[in-house]
Formats: sequence, structure tokens, C-alpha cells
Amino acid sequence: MPPANGNPGPGPNVESLVQGLAPLGSFLSFSPPKIGPLEIAAVTEALSSGWITTGPRADEFERAMSGHLGTPGALAVSSCTAALHLGLKVMGLGPGQAIVTSPLTFVSTAHAAVYNGARPLLSDVSADTGNLDPDRLSDFLEKECHPGPDGLPVHGKTNLAVKALVPVHYGGHPADLPALWEIAQRHNLGILEDAAHALGSSLGGLPVGHPGHRPAGASGLPSLAAFSFYATKNIATGEGGLLTSLDPAPLARARRLSAYGISDARRIWDRYAPQGTWAYDVEEVGFKCNFTDIQAALGLAQMSRFREFQDQRATNAAIWARALSPLGDLVELPAVRPGAGHSWHLFPLRLRTRALKIGRDHFIMALKALNIGTSVMFIPIHFHGCYRDLAVPGDGSLATAEDFFSREVSLPLSPAHPPEAIAEAAELVARLLARHAR
Ligand SMILES: Cc1ncc(COP(=O)(O)O)c(C=O)c1O
Repeated sequence: MPPANGNPGPGPNVESLVQGLAPLGSFLSFSPPKIGPLEIAAVTEALSSGWITTGPRADEFERAMSGHLGTPGALAVSSCTAALHLGLKVMGLGPGQAIVTSPLTFVSTAHAAVYNGARPLLSDVSADTGNLDPDRLSDFLEKECHPGPDGLPVHGKTNLAVKALVPVHYGGHPADLPALWEIAQRHNLGILEDAAHALGSSLGGLPVGHPGHRPAGASGLPSLAAFSFYATKNIATGEGGLLTSLDPAPLARARRLSAYGISDARRIWDRYAPQGTWAYDVEEVGFKCNFTDIQAALGLAQMSRFREFQDQRATNAAIWARALSPLGDLVELPAVRPGAGHSWHLFPLRLRTRALKIGRDHFIMALKALNIGTSVMFIPIHFHGCYRDLAVPGDGSLATAEDFFSREVSLPLSPAHPPEAIAEAAELVARLLARHAR
């Protein structure tokens, strides 16, 4: 496996890469949250309210989120990682079983399977979007798996029964849900969407997570989604996540599991209210990953400005696209397929490295010297030490994801950055690229 340590290795020094280019006046950080007086007032109010953990504000946040997504319910938790963990648990994932997911994701997606005693299997992505390629996935399930006794596909090489698909909406471009549901139906699989990037993403006009994406014929199959409100996400609560389910029973169990396994977890906070009671029962061994009212206050304030945030993300993405599209011989811009509503969580640029004299890692080094912060999304799952043996690369080839990673740089898009700052950075990046063309 190639090392992914961020060290570009031998090559030109950074001064020579950026010679003659003036850096930005201040550092344009990769993805700062946009926090203003509204958020500060909301959090201050929560802090002064006399109740700062899960309570009425968390309830209100859940109602706001399920209203926004059109889902029958929503459970706010401490992170998307927790939502993925709980989501797979309530789908019944366990030892001897596996999920199939994308290699081009954050480790949380894979960890969530391992937390449940199961394993992640990887299938390659589409070159344009970085999302699971339905044709490759279908081939994986048809050619590398055989039908097991309980109707689930069994992966020949590992003897693991595939229980669920976990597609990632990479960067905010929605995964091909109609094709994935067609495959899920054919193989009797549930779907847990890793929607960490997908608040603001839609397909055919319906938000990711919306009940309209599950076909009528698949109503017996679980359909869940996990969103993230981590500090860099489209709304940020510091840390935070949300689990949605189209069916009430899995969500009710996830709620109980998010608070130790205590019965009627929603009313835990009532225990300390005048009408409350001290009595409770712990029905199963759960976890501790609830969402606090402080996070909820921040999240509600962020949601009240969500439209403004999304418009500015789209504006910033358009500025990058306008500046870089004349350099189409040197870079690939993020694709937007027909019918897809992009959340613009990321602007994943890919270098056409054969047309350039510098590689991706030196390019990032040069951007840093020019005061432009970036990130790389993602180091493929199977490149990480803990997954070298654990993850089983689908049909043996994850070449598209590996190539995607090797050429990818995510550029700043945050609505905290004014369009003028993005325009200045975009012009600088265009000049840097033009200078290093072969
Ligand atoms: C694709 C993906 N899935 C899951 C996560 C985990 O989210 P969280 O940090 O809220 O646990 C992230 C976080 O960045 C992510 O990018």
C-alpha cells in the first residue's frame, strides 16, 4: 500500500514552487464554522436555562431536523460515528456479517461495522462522483457472493453474510439511490446512508433521507441515514450527529441505546422536573452518546440560517468552478449529475497529474505557502493500518478510489469565507496550476 503520511517526499522546495506569487494576506482555513451573534445568544440562553444536557432543546432540534428532511422521526446523538454505530446495531448487524461500503470515506463508516462485531467489505467508486459504483457493487454481490440460507448474500472469500449497504454521499453529491435500492431489493439488504456530508443534498428534488427514496416494493427493508454536525460540516454543533429511520421501531431502540439502554430515554430529563419520578429500568446494555441542549441550541440557530449557508456554499463552489474550468486540461472539477442537488460540503478538485509538473502533495505544500488551507478526502479505508487485513477489497480492485485519492485536494468552501476571499484564492490557485503545466 502506498504511504499516506502527507509527506510529499523528495522534490522541489516550496519557495521555488510559489516563486513570484504573493500569498493571501491571511490564512484561508479549510472549513471554519460560521458562528455569529445568533448562535452565541442561543448557547448563552441554553447555558443559563438551568438544564444543559439532553432536554427540551434537543427535542426541538430533532423536530426541526425531521421536518427539514421529511422523515417520520430523528434521533440526535453525539456524533455521526455514534449514529452509524447505532444505525447498524438496530439493523441487527452482528458477528459473521458484513456491510458493503465505499473505500472513499472516513474511517467511521468502517468502524461502525466493527463496533458491532461485523466487518466492512469494500466496493469501488464511480470516477465522476466518488460514490459507490452500482455496477461494480452489483458485480460484487453477484460474482463474489452466493445466496446464503437466510436469503442474504454470503461473501465467498470470507464466508460473511452481507446484511446492509452503507453508501456515502461523498462530498455532498447524492449517491445513486435508485440503483442502490434496486440492488438492495434484489439481495434483501437494508441501507444505512452515511449522510455525513449530505445535509443539503437532494436527489430528484427530495432531500437525502426522505422517505420518497425507498421504493414502495422495498418497504420491508430498513432505511436509515446518519448525518454529521462536526465542526467542519454544513451545520456545526462542535460535535453531533443525527440518525433517521423510515420505520419507528429501529429509531425507538436507537434512542434507548443512545442513553445506556434506559427505558423511555426521551423522558430522562423529566426525572429531575417537578412532575418527574426517580424510577427507571435499563432494558438492555446501551451506550452514552446523547446530544446536549447546548449542542441543540447551537444547531437550531445554525438551521435558522441554513438557506443562507447553502446559498453561500453554492456561490463559493461556482467561484472555484469559474476560475478553474479554463484549466480543464490540468484539473478535473467535481461533477454534478442530472437530478442531483449538491450540498457543496466539499469542493474536491482532482489534478490531472500527467499534465502537471507537480504532484498532489507538492501542490498542497504550495497552497499552504500561499496561505490556502486544504484537506484530502479521503485516505482510502484499506490504506489504514487497522484495515489492511480487516477490510476485504471487493473484487480485488479498488483502483478508481485509489486513483481518486491520489489526485484529490479539497478546497475551502465554508460560508464563513466571503466570496471575495474565495475569488482571490481561486485566482491564485489558477495561476499556480498554469505555472506548473507541462
Ligand atoms: C463520510 C463521513 N462519515 C462519517 C463521519 C463521522 O462524523 P462525526 O465526526 O460526526 O462522527 C465523517 C466525518 O468527518 C465523514 O466525513
